[in-house]
Amino acid sequence: MPKVLAQGKTIECVSKSNLRTILLQNGIDLYNDGAKVINCRGIGSCGTCAVKVESEISAANWRDRARRSLPPHSLTTNLLRNSQTQVLGDVKVTKFDGFWGQGSRIVWTPKG
Ligand code: FES
Repeated sequence: MPKVLAQGKTIECVSKSNLRTILLQNGIDLYNDGAKVINCRGIGSCGTCAVKVESEISAANWRDRARRSLPPHSLTTNLLRNSQTQVLGDVKVTKFDGFWGQGSRIVWTPKG
């Protein structure tokens, strides 16, 4: 079973699990500031669930590419919206600051 490392937790999940769902079900602080209340609940339109993901995940789908093409996100950054991401193998997740998680300061890492 794939393992997700996020905010100091190691979470096992079934392959192709939705990353956003796994993180929220395991108490990971996925959203920053007001995005905890104002977000699209995983529909894929807001972009506030953006995280950096290392390792085996599904390819970015059209919703992910479309939202990341709009500010403050960018297609040139390595942030993904995890509501559109499937876990395919062991992954490490890092969250950055900013309403959309688009900042440069790390909020939490895979280790905590
Ligand atoms: S929660 Fe809105 S795009 Fe992920």
